[in-house]
Amino acid sequence: MEKSGALRDLEKEIIANVSLPLRESNLVFGEGNPDCRVMFVGEAPGFNEDRLGRPFVGRGGQLLDKLIQEIGWERKDVYITNIVKRRPPDNRDPLPEEIEKYKPYLTRQIDIINPKVIVCLGRFSMNYFLPLAKITRDHGRVFKIDDRLIFPVYHPAAALRSTQMMETFREDMKKLPKVVSGELVAEALTAMPPMPEAKAKKIATKKPPQKLF
Ligand code: URA
Repeated sequence: MEKSGALRDLEKEIIANVSLPLRESNLVFGEGNPDCRVMFVGEAPGFNEDRLGRPFVGRGGQLLDKLIQEIGWERKDVYITNIVKRRPPDNRDPLPEEIEKYKPYLTRQIDIINPKVIVCLGRFSMNYFLPLAKITRDHGRVFKIDDRLIFPVYHPAAALRSTQMMETFREDMKKLPKVVSGELVAEALTAMPPMPEAKAKKIATKKPPQKLF
C-alpha cells in the first residue's frame, strides 16, 4: 500500500480505539510529506493544535516554519507529528501511561514514513528516543538508532522564551541539511555517559514535571 493510504488507515485505527486516553481532546495525527527524509516529533498538541487538529500551528509552530524556510526547505516537504496525539488537559506533560498507549501508533507512523532523520523537538521527545540524553548537552548532536538518525533540538516554545536558546535552536536547525546528507556523522550512543544509578532511580520515581510549554 502507498504510504498516504497506510497513514490514513493508521489514523482511522486511532479514532476507533476507544481505550486511548485523552479522548476528550481532538486528534492531532500529524501532517506533511510521507515521502520525506526528515520527520519532526514534538511532545503533545497544545491549545491551538487541539483547536485546528494540526501539529505546531501556534507561535512555536510559526517559528519552526520560519527556521525550516531559512534552511531552504518548506514545511510541506517534511513530516511533523507528536508522541502523544491528543492534548493533555491544561497543557500538562503527558503521563507515562499516555505515552505508552500512543507509542504503538508513533512506532508505526515512523515505520510507514521511514525517515532518515528524526528531529526531536525538545527534551521530552528527545528522552523518548534517547532516555539518557540531556537537552542542554546533547542538542545539535547526531545519534544513530537502528539505522535512523536522531537529532535533538530545543523545543520552539523554549526558544521563544530566551534569546540564547533561540540562537542555539537556529544554529542547530542550520545543521539539518548536513545531517541529512551524512556530512555530519552520527556519534555512537556510547558517547553518552551512563547515568549514575542513584540519579536513574530518582528519575524513575519522580513525578512528571508540569509541562513548560
Ligand atoms: N508543542 C508540542 O510539543 N507539539 C505541538 O504540536 C505543539 C506544541
